[in-house]
Amino acid sequence: MNDFLRMADFDKTSLEKLIKKALIFKQENLFYDTYKDKIIVNLFFEDSTRTRTSFEMAELKLGFKTIAFNPQTSSTNKGETLEDTCKTMQSIGVNALVIRHFKNSFYDELKDLQIPVINAGDGSGEHPSQCLLDLLTIKEHFGYFDGLKIAIIGDISSSRVAKSNKIALEKLGAKVCLVAPNIYQDSSLGEYVGFDECIKDIDVCMLLRIQHERHGDEGLSLSEYINSYSLNQARYEKLKPNSIIMHPAPVNRGVEIESHLVESPKSRIFTQMKNGVYARMAVLDYVFKGV
Ligand code: CP
Repeated sequence: MNDFLRMADFDKTSLEKLIKKALIFKQENLFYDTYKDKIIVNLFFEDSTRTRTSFEMAELKLGFKTIAFNPQTSSTNKGETLEDTCKTMQSIGVNALVIRHFKNSFYDELKDLQIPVINAGDGSGEHPSQCLLDLLTIKEHFGYFDGLKIAIIGDISSSRVAKSNKIALEKLGAKVCLVAPNIYQDSSLGEYVGFDECIKDIDVCMLLRIQHERHGDEGLSLSEYINSYSLNQARYEKLKPNSIIMHPAPVNRGVEIESHLVESPKSRIFTQMKNGVYARMAVLDYVFKGV
């Protein structure tokens, strides 16, 4: 039994095996009954469209049974701690927990659990299953990571996607450059470059949403942001011929990317969503069977 919590826990070989596992699930595109005797609960304490539904789809495809949990109508509203909610799930017979929580490293409170915990996003910490689907998407397009230049652009300091991807991509040999206005920078992650400075050289243009819900508006106008950090048609035309555009979504069309570019030939945004199912099948299989 394994937890799946953060990309720092995986070395290059394990990451390659996880990507391969996800690719096999995608190629086979089957429904399995492997886990018909296992029960999962998805505990989402923050909003989600993609992560929640693609975990549910992955669980269905692997034969899991799931039970519903809605934090708005649960006893967390009566003061129950996350640890006690999770211990309750374990006590009633749940075999694994998929958790999204607003608290960074929420899983540190759950060390006594005897069932696997899957991190579906912890505050501004990490989003490792999103990272795995991003790795799968890059691997499918390029076939390799070594030497690829990947720009992550936007609200880096709030982004769990940026943090997981920076860790994992560098382990796999890619070069990650960070692009963000000062107010969205996290200097502990490295140096920052200008978007227009790096755009001609990058293989992957990974855009991020501004997470107003984590910090409100902090003095940068939308027009200033769009002017310097949005992928518009003029910037699109500077991208290398074989480059791709990624975004974890939800997308704020017209802010981090001009709306029509979401459906442009270089965009892999909906491919990422499709790959989310296979990546999460790999994650679920990993927590029970390992790589
Ligand atoms: N990319 C992502 O995590 O999307 P959701 O918040 O909709 O799950």
